[in-house]
Amino acid sequence: MKKMIAVLPGDGIGPEVTHEAIKALQAIAVAFDHQFSFPQALVGATAIDATGTPLPEDTLALCKESDAILFGAIGHPKYDNDPSAPVRPEQGLLALRKELGLFANIRPVKAYDTLLHHSPLKEDRIKGTDISIYRELTGGIYFGEKHRNEDGTEASDLCVYSKNEIERIAHLAFQAARSRKKKVTLVDKANVLESSRLWRKVVTALSHEYPDITLDFLFVDNAAMQLILNPTQFDVILTENMFGDILSDEASVIGGSIGLLASASVGGDIGLFEPIHGSFPQATGKGIANPIASILSAAMMLEHFKLHKEAHRIQKAVEKALELSVTTADINPENTHIKTNQVGDFIEDYILNPHDSNVNFQNIHLGQSTII
Ligand code: IPM
Ligand code: MN
Repeated sequence: MKKMIAVLPGDGIGPEVTHEAIKALQAIAVAFDHQFSFPQALVGATAIDATGTPLPEDTLALCKESDAILFGAIGHPKYDNDPSAPVRPEQGLLALRKELGLFANIRPVKAYDTLLHHSPLKEDRIKGTDISIYRELTGGIYFGEKHRNEDGTEASDLCVYSKNEIERIAHLAFQAARSRKKKVTLVDKANVLESSRLWRKVVTALSHEYPDITLDFLFVDNAAMQLILNPTQFDVILTENMFGDILSDEASVIGGSIGLLASASVGGDIGLFEPIHGSFPQATGKGIANPIASILSAAMMLEHFKLHKEAHRIQKAVEKALELSVTTADINPENTHIKTNQVGDFIEDYILNPHDSNVNFQNIHLGQSTII
């Protein structure tokens, strides 16, 4: 199969982790005889520095002619503490999502058995967790009208949703539940917000088309608590843009590290695949960033291309890295000697030679080449 994958490394650790995901995809291309090309383009703070805008026209044009987008991370501290900055890196990602109609952001959260003891949460609570978060991505408070009064003493952000916007992502969530545990939990704040009441009404009406799926509801404050208290009760979580943003960061604690959480943004012709973590500026260039979220995002891209065996090969290689503790220190604090590129090297090698007999266990722990 021939695919053109636009790579937008972005800011901070984005380029480092994306580099490792490309290595994994290239290994897949070799192992399964595909042809992938990886043209790159600027986005975020890097793009502002070079062109004055976070989403240059060339970048958007490249994305539109590609088969998929591999996205790194976005954001820079120089904007975080400057509320009056006229352009911000994040606008690049938001504009891209809107332009490409990427209304559904899918964020899988899994507790890997081999990592249970690394989570700050109790093992018996999180064991078996397997959640798929369906976060609406192009509506709500992120995109509603923004206003600040003239003397800068009052501001507002409008949260708007239409029936159509709710229905299209709800369909995807119900369909996903069909091949899972057949449960959808709608997370909202319907006791307070009118927009949430619309979500409940629309999703309830739509649920009649999916009689095999159980639909239940949670207020977002309670959902935040339940996620930590009893995460195995969830299957598919369906929610609006900002609640999904917050709950998915919270849910990442279950998996042991935010550095493991991948995501797929779909809905238009071209999917975008990115880790859920940010640009982690303090770690930039130090080789300590966990590349696994980016690598698993590449696996989600392969699923999207319906290359299931290939996606599975990446997932297996990641699981092997976790099992053998070939991970960065965010997962295992003792692993300060294992760097971003070594995790990537191991995964690349295991994709090409997926047999334990080829793994040189001693070299792994010396941080050297892993395959003999
Ligand atoms: C995410 C990020 C983005 C968001 C930012 C960078 C705009 O936090 O993808 O979760 O809030 O959607
Ligand atoms: Mn976020």
